[in-house]
Amino acid sequence: MAMRLTPTRRTIQSYEAQHEIYLHEWNARQYKVPLHLHNLIARVPKAGLILDVGCGPGQDTRYLRRQGFHVCGADLTWSFLQAAKARAPRLPVVQADMRRLPFPLQTFDGIWAAASIIHLPKVQARTLLRKLFKLTKPGGWLALTVMYGREVGVPRQQWIAGRYLAKWFKRELRHAVQTAAWDVCSIERVTHQERKGAWINVLATRSGREKNCLVVRQVSGRDGGVRRTRS
Ligand SMILES: C[S@@+](CC[C@H](N)C(=O)[O-])C[C@H]1O[C@@H](n2cnc3c(N)ncnc32)[C@H](O)[C@@H]1O
Repeated sequence: MAMRLTPTRRTIQSYEAQHEIYLHEWNARQYKVPLHLHNLIARVPKAGLILDVGCGPGQDTRYLRRQGFHVCGADLTWSFLQAAKARAPRLPVVQADMRRLPFPLQTFDGIWAAASIIHLPKVQARTLLRKLFKLTKPGGWLALTVMYGREVGVPRQQWIAGRYLAKWFKRELRHAVQTAAWDVCSIERVTHQERKGAWINVLATRSGREKNCLVVRQVSGRDGGVRRTRS
């Protein structure tokens, strides 16, 4: 009897089966630091500890370490962790399901989750947001990026076939993050930044002190530059 795969099993199997395509694409591209990552970097104390949730082959994890942070990458796809280790043998990465992260409460100063929570059904993503809150120190920060839109499920056509994807609208995402007890500092839709298509960037804190903050964002001025603006 054919067994139905859970969204996570299906996604990780797809990444494992097609890891060469994924890694080839990423190795061919020049690494661009995600603009939103600067929002986290600007807030976490130097030498603070940052968890990269769904770190993939670890590009952002490595960048954060180069900036002087202590880091840990967590991902379930073994081939990506091997690729991360091949590039940087001493990079701290663990194979872990983001829904069951093996860390004590209040461990991290910052959490970075780029394009990873998109692989969870929304009910699981909501639970994860609460768990991430508990793993973060009081005063700590969360920066996450998810796909913008309505679709939920396994798209017929996608770059890495077979992955489960859940897209979000701003309002429901804000509600999910706030319900998990985070204070949302900024939430915005961006298009064609480091990734094709429309995405949402959220910056949130485990303390209510900074509710309305300066964030780095792309502006479509004549020079197409980057500015710090208040949300
Ligand atoms: C689109 S990639 C993003 C990788 C990296 N964060 C980046 O921005 O390039 C999504 C990553 O999430 C990981 N992932 C998906 N579901 C996961 C789960 N339940 N637990 C841990 N990692 C997961 C995948 O293995 C993959 O590396």
